[in-house]
Amino acid sequence: MKMKTTVIAALMASSLLISLGTTAFSAEKVASLRGTHDITAKSKKPSKKKLILEEGGFERSYKLQPPLIPHKVSKYRITIKNNGCLKCHDKKHHKREHAPMVGRSHFLTRDGKKLDHVSSRRWFCTQCHAPQLNARPLVKNEFEGWSPCKREECYR
Ligand code: HEC
Ligand code: HEC
Repeated sequence: MKMKTTVIAALMASSLLISLGTTAFSAEKVASLRGTHDITAKSKKPSKKKLILEEGGFERSYKLQPPLIPHKVSKYRITIKNNGCLKCHDKKHHKREHAPMVGRSHFLTRDGKKLDHVSSRRWFCTQCHAPQLNARPLVKNEFEGWSPCKREECYR
C-alpha cells in the first residue's frame, strides 16, 4: 500500500513537471533558420529568384548523386495520382520529349524487384532532385565534390 502511494505521488510530480516544462517551452521564442518566426504562423513567401538553367544538365559532384534539375519546375505538380515530371521523364515519353529517362534504380522496389513503372519510393521527385539558383547558403559548409562527371560518364 505504502509503495503504491509513493508511485502515484512520483507520477503526479512528474506530470506536473512535464506540464510546467511545456508551458515554459511554448512561451519561449524559438529561433530557427526562419528566424524568430512564430512556429504556428505561415512562412513568408520567399522572394522570387531566377533559376539557373543549364543546358545539357549540371555536372555531378559524386557518383550516384541525384542529378540537379537544369530547368524550371514551378508548373509541374506531383500529387498522389499524377506526376507532372513523368510526362517527360517516364520510359514511355522520354524519347519524344528529348528528356533523359529516370534512373534505372527508380523502377526497383525496396526488395530489388524490377517494376515496369516508377516505384512509389521514387514518386516524389523533388524529395531528391532540386533546381538551382544563386542564393547565399543557409549554412556555411566546405563541401567539395568528388570526380565531377556529366550524365553518361557518371555511372554507365
Ligand atoms: C516538358 C518536359 C519535362 C518535364 C515536365 C520535366 N522535365 Fe526534367 N528535363 C527535361 C529535359 C528535356 C531535360 C534535359 C535538359 C538538358 O539536358 O538541357 C531534363 C532534365 C532533368 C534532370 C537532369 C538529368 C541529368 O541527368 O542531368 C532532372 C534531374 C530532371 N529533369 C528532373 C525533373 C523533375 C523532378 C521534374 C518535375 C518537377 C521534371 N524534370 C519535369 C524535360 C522535362
Ligand atoms: C530517393 C531519391 C530519388 C527520388 C525520389 C527520385 N530520384 Fe531520380 N535519381 C536519384 C539518384 C540517386 C539518381 C542517380 C542514380 C540513378 O540513376 O539511380 C537519379 C537519377 C535521375 C535521372 C538521371 C538518369 C540518367 O540516366 O541520367 C533523372 C532524369 C531522374 N532521376 C528523374 C527523376 C524523376 C522524374 C523522379 C520522380 C518521378 C525522380 N527522379 C525521383 C534519386 C531520386
